[in-house]
Amino acid sequence: MRVRAVPAEATYELRRQVLRQGAPDAEVALVGDVDPGAFHLALADDEGRLVAVASAHPAPTEHRPGRRWWRVRGMAVEPGHQGRGLGAVLLEAVVTRARDLGAEGVWAAGRDPALGFYRRQGWTVEGEGYLAAGGLPHHTVLLDLVATGPGAAPVSMSGDRPGGEAGAPSGRSDPAGDEES
Ligand SMILES: CC(C)(COP(=O)(O)OP(=O)(O)OC[C@H]1O[C@@H](n2cnc3c(N)ncnc32)[C@H](O)[C@@H]1OP(=O)(O)O)[C@@H](O)C(=O)NCCC(=O)NCCS
Repeated sequence: MRVRAVPAEATYELRRQVLRQGAPDAEVALVGDVDPGAFHLALADDEGRLVAVASAHPAPTEHRPGRRWWRVRGMAVEPGHQGRGLGAVLLEAVVTRARDLGAEGVWAAGRDPALGFYRRQGWTVEGEGYLAAGGLPHHTVLLDLVATGPGAAPVSMSGDRPGGEAGAPSGRSDPAGDEES
């Protein structure tokens, strides 16, 4: 299977099925889907049916203030295809794309049952747990893509991204705790 870029709307059915328990009236569009820096990636089966989707958009995290980070959203693998490595392939592709766009790191509001998946891909869990809007327990998971410790050079937050404005954080406040993954 090859990772492909898809429009946000193409992810909706899998988001509904996997992340919203199939609820027909569930909100499946996510804040950030239409951000100029957003992208949506997918894996499809032999019939072209999407079986894994993930999205990302620029969004700051309180865990790395002042840094240019991307937030991963809507990570979902169709139940019959889970546990076969598709999630790992897709998450790696998301990380690579975000890095190419200038991300200094990526983060997500990780559902507690999925934290082991992120850890397995080298992400870390930071901060206190919280209940997201849907009432599910979450933790922030993140992956640094550049050194940010003592001695690391500060990074300009504006005007230095190829292609213009899309690399800057969207200006929204950090939504961790407000929204589901
Ligand atoms: C979580 C999810 C995206 C993982 O995708 P997947 O295709 O099933 O995972 P993979 O097969 O690529 O697993 C990669 C590795 O992570 C491990 N892993 C996967 N899910 C895990 C979990 N929930 N807990 C601990 N480890 C997990 C696998 O064992 C595998 O380890 P390995 O490298 O030693 O073989 C997928 O199961 C899913 O969509 N779950 C329901 C929705 C969800 O929770 N989404 C995330 C919201 S934050």
